[in-house]
Amino acid sequence: MTVDGSWTMKNTKLIVALDIPTLAEAEKLVKLLSPLVAVFKVGSELFTAVGPSVIQMIHSYHGKVFLDLKFHDIPNTVGSACEAAARYKIFMLNVHTFGGKQMMFQAVQSVHKTAEELKIDPPRILGVTILTSMKETDLKEIGVNQGMEKTVESLAVLAKACGLDGVVASAHEIESIRNKTDKDFLIVTPGVRPLWAWHGDQKRVMTPKEAVERGANFIVVGRPIIQSPSPLEAAKMVLKEIE
Ligand code: C5P
Repeated sequence: MTVDGSWTMKNTKLIVALDIPTLAEAEKLVKLLSPLVAVFKVGSELFTAVGPSVIQMIHSYHGKVFLDLKFHDIPNTVGSACEAAARYKIFMLNVHTFGGKQMMFQAVQSVHKTAEELKIDPPRILGVTILTSMKETDLKEIGVNQGMEKTVESLAVLAKACGLDGVVASAHEIESIRNKTDKDFLIVTPGVRPLWAWHGDQKRVMTPKEAVERGANFIVVGRPIIQSPSPLEAAKMVLKEIE
């Protein structure tokens, strides 16, 4: 916000998750929010429903795209998917760190090769650590027994060693990830809930202000903004908290 109280600058820390099923609804939100918000997240719901036209739509409003398809497959397949994604000239994409070293390595190589070929800045590649909808007991259920913090920490260290630009993790793990990586390693945190918002299925939540104070480079907010009766007012309230 500027000193006279007007909202003229785009915020670069807030990523709005466009978790909606149609291009028309997505465009309505992007049109409304793009004067304030620089980055929009396109996840599996919207991309599966409408395909790459949503990326072109966001670019047409000068927005940046975080393509959140969380690739997780054999290295060759993930490498090819990352190459296809990089061709859309997006800002950010992600893969699952559980796919392992070779898979993450291949993602980095494919993205950089494609960016060189197209002479563009490579999209930032993030590794998803543990979903913010999961608790310690959910981890145990799938046979991961070393605890949330240790698991996230080791996945982040592995992601960095493979050349990823950062990770997606809960705000609760920011401090331990920072300690084990460095200040340039990006930490993107979903599971962000302002005090006035409902938690839904998110379990490891934190407020926007706390997440940014702990060192999140980007926060991802979906339903508290997009399902609000006034998405613009909701976005302004989130921005006010973090600026
Ligand atoms: O509506 P809400 O604010 O909970 O949306 C969070 C967004 O972040 C969703 O699009 C979800 O897919 C995504 N996300 C997440 N946890 C992760 C990675 C991505 O919630 N670990």
